[in-house]
Amino acid sequence: MQVFDKITAIQTRIVELKKEGNNIGFVPTMGALHDGHISLIEQCAIDNDITVASIFVNPIQFNNKNDLKNYPRTLDEDLKKLDDAGCDIVFVPSVEEMYPEEETQKYSFGALETVMEGKFRPGHFNGVAVVVKKLFDIVMPDNAYFGKKDFQQLAIIKSLVKQINYNINIVACETKREDDGLAMSSRNTLLSNERRLSATKISEALFKSVEIKQNKSVTDTKEFIVNYISDDANLEVEYVEIVDSNTLQPIENWIDTDEATVCVAIINGNVRLIDNLQY
Ligand code: PAF
Repeated sequence: MQVFDKITAIQTRIVELKKEGNNIGFVPTMGALHDGHISLIEQCAIDNDITVASIFVNPIQFNNKNDLKNYPRTLDEDLKKLDDAGCDIVFVPSVEEMYPEEETQKYSFGALETVMEGKFRPGHFNGVAVVVKKLFDIVMPDNAYFGKKDFQQLAIIKSLVKQINYNINIVACETKREDDGLAMSSRNTLLSNERRLSATKISEALFKSVEIKQNKSVTDTKEFIVNYISDDANLEVEYVEIVDSNTLQPIENWIDTDEATVCVAIINGNVRLIDNLQY
């Protein structure tokens, strides 16, 4: 596995590989890799000649300084996991390499960014779009892999690729869960044992709601989820939204869409967790 930290060096290598006729798959990450990331790498390695990953904790997508400071960083373990999973190239740039000047690029995603994560984390999706566009320019992938756990991010990235007219196929991969149902996240490592146990209530609520929704309205299903999670004193609900899976706009009645997804953001001490389930 080759590791690059300079843009020109990785670009030169990728141009060579493309000239030789290889197609390129790409998995962008912020490190602290878990089995969810590894499943993206494995899928990427199946679909492509060359698998490229990036590890970069992107400061401009954090709207909270402490969140950025506390974000887990485990570079040595990450590199080993990537190598074992069949990754060919890793890009590990510094902040200065990615942002030699103050970043001013602004993207607009319309209604996709006014709800949920966009509403509660101002500037977050612009930061994601800026870094993903830069990484796409550097890696020039044919296919790029993203997890469905970041459901809204996936919609934003699909919209970004349309806006900039890049011929990159965005591959959405299923959320990986721990045995007790908790969605895998780098942030899970920040939870104490007690809070880790509480966190299982989040997926429990979502799974139970599949049954509840058969006989209840959208409002009552949301209320069930809010109450189930809030029953645990460690958990504070930031939002529970049931949205159209394509527009991400909240629905009022089940007949408003054929494809609904429930999305939640929960504060568990100083850790913010998100999850979703397609109904
Ligand atoms: O999902 C993530 O880990 C990040 O948002 C991404 C896509 C790597 C951009 O920094």
